[in-house]
Amino acid sequence: MSKIVVTGGLGFIGSHTVVELQNQGFEVVVIDNLSNSSIDVLEGIERITGKKTIYSGIDLREKKAVQAFFKEHNDIAGVIHFAASKAVGESVKNPLLYYENNLGALVYILQELEKKKEAHFIFSSSCTVYGQAEVMPIAETTPIQPALSPYGNTKQIGEEIIADVVKVSDLNAILLRYFNPIGSHPSAEIGELPIGVPQNLVPFITQAGVGLRAELSVYGNDYPTPDGTCIRDYIHVVDLAKAHVIALKRLLNRENADPLEIFNLGTGKGSSVLEVITSFEKGSGQKLPYKIVARREGDVTEAYANTDKANTILGWKTVSTLDEAIASAWKWEQKIRGN
Ligand code: WQD
Repeated sequence: MSKIVVTGGLGFIGSHTVVELQNQGFEVVVIDNLSNSSIDVLEGIERITGKKTIYSGIDLREKKAVQAFFKEHNDIAGVIHFAASKAVGESVKNPLLYYENNLGALVYILQELEKKKEAHFIFSSSCTVYGQAEVMPIAETTPIQPALSPYGNTKQIGEEIIADVVKVSDLNAILLRYFNPIGSHPSAEIGELPIGVPQNLVPFITQAGVGLRAELSVYGNDYPTPDGTCIRDYIHVVDLAKAHVIALKRLLNRENADPLEIFNLGTGKGSSVLEVITSFEKGSGQKLPYKIVARREGDVTEAYANTDKANTILGWKTVSTLDEAIASAWKWEQKIRGN
């Protein structure tokens, strides 16, 4: 079966995608410099799939290392590129770290792929490129707004770089714009491993649930939404991972209509912060300590996906509910804290 490179393959979404690729019989080579993950994830993947993963710890910011890697692995059928820094707040404080890591690495990988007679590339993008969209649900045709952070800008620029390369090479690419990935593999062998204080809602909630955090700060309840808190489209990470395998097969089987395709990946349903809290309390059977504080700079009021294109063209749709996704995140948190 085809050999696939997964950059950032020991990260949250990357590791879940490696599992789904191996379940489908693909040979997987993971590149991960462990800047935001742990080598232990390799064993977690193997415990689920029973398969070994070829691992490379190269740093994708090192051009020569990337060239050597692609020289060694010259039989690669496709690349799924997750490796990137993704903390919005950190990107504001340290923009060059984000431009070097998220764009430098992308350029070096694409320079290797454009040399190949045929190359297939899946890019991890984000709904953040839409900013605060005027109309809900958000479709792929929704206008791209000026980025609110260097992180968001690297996703927008990354998409533009790929579009330019596709025009002058044999590269086929699919951009996947994720909404809010949450949850963990049902086996609880892999899951989200945020470093330091979680910036994202769900890992903060589960850490508060095990007592690692005193209470959740809800960033504002004065938004123009039914309960005043922001609305997002929380998608189970396994549903998201499965979409990557479907998109990859679409390229490998040359079913893509254009050399560059874009898909929004979400549930199509919006949930507020308070609804997520309620889901956690219902599933865990415990109250979540939280307080309402000021809005967080850069937060959009509402963002949830129009999934028609992914549903009809990819033939993919989410199967997990918010409650199931939150329950899987809670099961994982309890396991890693030895509860
Ligand atoms: C969700 C909601 C917060 C934490 C970001 C990136 C996106 C993707 C996912 C990488 C918001 C509220 C959060 C907390 C809170 N990142 N919240 N208290 O900001 O929608 O998306 O992460 O791929 O690209 O933009 O996700 O989980 O940070 O926030 O009230 O302690 O929860 O205000 O309304 P976000 P999030």
